[in-house]
Amino acid sequence: MTGTRHRGGAGDPRPADEDGEPEWPVPAKTPTPDETAETDETGETDAAEPAELFEGERLQKVLARAGVGSRRVAEDLIDAGRVQVNGKVAVLGRRVDPEQDVVAVDGTPIGTAQGLAYRLLNKPRGVVATAEDPEGRPTVVQLVPTEPRVVPVGRLDVDTEGLLLLTNDGQLHHRLTHPSFGVEKEYLAEVEGELWPKDLRKLRAGVELEDGMTAPAKASSPAPNLLKLTVHEGRNRQVRRMCEAIGHPVVRLVRTRIGPLVDGSLPPGSWRDLTRDEVRALERAVVEEKAVNAGKWRPGDVTGRRNR
Ligand code: URA
Repeated sequence: MTGTRHRGGAGDPRPADEDGEPEWPVPAKTPTPDETAETDETGETDAAEPAELFEGERLQKVLARAGVGSRRVAEDLIDAGRVQVNGKVAVLGRRVDPEQDVVAVDGTPIGTAQGLAYRLLNKPRGVVATAEDPEGRPTVVQLVPTEPRVVPVGRLDVDTEGLLLLTNDGQLHHRLTHPSFGVEKEYLAEVEGELWPKDLRKLRAGVELEDGMTAPAKASSPAPNLLKLTVHEGRNRQVRRMCEAIGHPVVRLVRTRIGPLVDGSLPPGSWRDLTRDEVRALERAVVEEKAVNAGKWRPGDVTGRRNR
C-alpha cells in the first residue's frame, strides 16, 4: 500500500496539482452539443452565464488538482461533455468556486475544495469512534492530526478494531453514512464455537434482528471459528447482533474493508492519508453502490455513462 504511515503528529498534505497520464478514459469522439445535452441529468447544458466564464478558477485546473488527470485530460473530458457543474454539463471556459460548486465526472461528484483530508486509521480496541467521549475514554480523533479537523465516518464499537475513515469532506461523509448509499463493509470476526455451512446460509439469507431482517450478506468461513462477513447496511452493532442471532457470539471483531479501501499493513493505532486514486474510488463506490441498491446498475456495467 502506498502512502506514509503515521502514529500521531502532522499529516502529509494531499499532493499538489500535477500533470500526469490520463486516468479517466477519454473517448476518441467528441459529442456534438446535441449529444451532450441529451445525456445531461437535467436535460440542460451549462449555458455558461457570463459570471461563470470570468469568476472563480478554471474548471480544468480544479479537475486536475482533484486528481482527474493532467489539465489537458481535464479539458478533453469537458470537451467530451463528461463534466458536470451543479448538475449541468459544463463547457470549456467554465470557471467554478471549488468550495461551493459540485463538480462531477460522468455523474460522480469529486472533492474539489482545498484542504480536504482523508485519514485512514487502524482503530485499536478500546478507543471510541467519536470526536469526544463524555466518559473521558481515548477517541479516534486523538490518534490523527488536529489540523485540519476531521471526524470519523460512521461508527465502530469501542471493542471493534480495524479500518475507520476520518475526513472533513462533508459531502463524501454524508454519502458514506446515508443509508441509501450503503457502501460495502467487510469484517473478520472470531466467534464462539465452530461455524457450519447452515450458519453461513442464514447470514447470507438475512437474519431476524429486533430492528428487522438484515439484508442478504456475503459470508464465508476461512477457519472453523472465523467469519468473513460483508454487509452494507451499517446498523448499530450489526455484525455482533447477527453472530449472536445464529448462536455464535463475537469474541473479536475487525473491519478489514470499507468499499474499495483495504490496508492489511497499517499497524493498530496508525493512520495514513488516502491516495488520490483511493479518494476517487471511494467517490465512485458511493455512486455505484447507490445504483446497485436501487437496482439500476450492477458491478461490471462500466461502459458508457453510469447511473443514467
Ligand atoms: N458491526 C458491529 O457489530 N460492530 C461494529 O463496530 C461494526 C459493525
